[in-house]
Amino acid sequence: MTFTALTSSSVSTYKLYINGKWEQSKSGQAIDIQSPYLYEAIGKVQAITKEEVDEAIHFAQKAQKEWADISLQERAKYLYKWADELVNMQDEIAEVIKKEVGKSYKDAKSEVVRTADFIRYTVEEALHIHGESMRGDSFPGGSQSKIAIIQRVPLGVVLAIPPFNYPVNLAAAKLAPALMAGNAVIFKPATQGAISGTKMIEALHKAEFPKGLVNLVTGRGSVIGDYLVEHKGINMISFTGGTNTGVNLAKKASMVPLVLELGGKDPGIVREDADLQEAAKHIISGAFSYSGQRCTAIKRVLVHESVANELIGILKEEIEKLSVGSPEDGSMVVPLIDDQSANFVQGLIDDAIKKGATLVTGNKRERNLVYPTLLDHVTEDMRVAWEEPFGPVLPVIRVSSDEEAINIANESEFGLQASVFTKDINKAFAIANKIETGSVQINGRTERGPDHFPFIGVKGSGMGAQGIRKSIESMTREKVTVLNLAE
Ligand code: G3H
Repeated sequence: MTFTALTSSSVSTYKLYINGKWEQSKSGQAIDIQSPYLYEAIGKVQAITKEEVDEAIHFAQKAQKEWADISLQERAKYLYKWADELVNMQDEIAEVIKKEVGKSYKDAKSEVVRTADFIRYTVEEALHIHGESMRGDSFPGGSQSKIAIIQRVPLGVVLAIPPFNYPVNLAAAKLAPALMAGNAVIFKPATQGAISGTKMIEALHKAEFPKGLVNLVTGRGSVIGDYLVEHKGINMISFTGGTNTGVNLAKKASMVPLVLELGGKDPGIVREDADLQEAAKHIISGAFSYSGQRCTAIKRVLVHESVANELIGILKEEIEKLSVGSPEDGSMVVPLIDDQSANFVQGLIDDAIKKGATLVTGNKRERNLVYPTLLDHVTEDMRVAWEEPFGPVLPVIRVSSDEEAINIANESEFGLQASVFTKDINKAFAIANKIETGSVQINGRTERGPDHFPFIGVKGSGMGAQGIRKSIESMTREKVTVLNLAE
């Protein structure tokens, strides 16, 4: 039996997980987690103290030494068990994700299943990573008697900080590679998402990992964030979240390898020869799934003016069919994570309309539920042309050439992904080659998966690479042992 939460009055207070034990913080303080659509607290999480952070890191360091010494096959058994436990708990975890971050039950459940698949693939990938060896005599003057053996070794203690929008999947996407690579983990969930993260750790606890190997620290980023990031016991940081926080984190973390996946302003470029029905389908799913609260959402359309009216017509018709409302009803467009986020999106819409954008559909709001909004004739002086809404608003900028589309795409501070819609494969490649993003999708929506593909943000969208193999590599370093044979 596990005791992840204390239940008093109406809501549960979830505990920290340190050195394999569920603990209440000595701070005596807990943070209310408000559901974005139930408009009430659905639970509380502990506000950890700095001393408890020190303890968690100390236990992680201790556990990591032994973990690094056990075989890959042994590590694999724990991770497979964890994946199985997640599948066993999928209904319960999906229910928590739905309530905590307002994602439909169906999407929440796919998130859990995707996570189990992710863990299993990570195990298999790690089992198949091999080192290499080099002969000394391939360099001028080098000797045959020197042989370098190059292996990947763990970094130590990895600090994993995922965002609210995939509180289980993007957490495990950091934990699984870190663990298979032989590291210990300090897991700091997003405050909104911390209960879902706790449930994921409950599954991990059931798999009976060594004590101290994974520690769950909850608390306000504003209170413990910098302390964690600057802590001398942290050897690597993997962060997914907002660009401002990521940039701040990169300034504070000194001499520690970082992987940052930050914001985006992914363009959907629609050429005059595109299949407009298909393009619209991908653009709508890319822009409005989970209300656009995805770093990889399509966040602007750059369409050739000769087909703009037709595309806008299709987009309008399809957007007006989208389900809008509560995650309880399985709606695609749901209330945003909080009022502040909705106010921000509203500010972008208001600014664009004030500056002359045409409102095609939307601009309706009920509290933090923003209806899917399509804006045409967006120009470069409007904030929505450049800023990331993380909400259901899609600006359309009309362009007269591929070059203009490429220039506007590249003027962005972000560089996560882009989509190009065209029937001309040569043009598609010509555009893709000039776009400054980590990935370009041809005739498909922008998205991270499948999860073994490299996932890379450039410019303000991040640094380093994720994707299963890349994540394992980023959480290890090369170690060279040179054999000097007697000549
Ligand atoms: O929000 C950032 C995620 O990495 C996006 O993942 O493309 O699978 O929705 P996704």
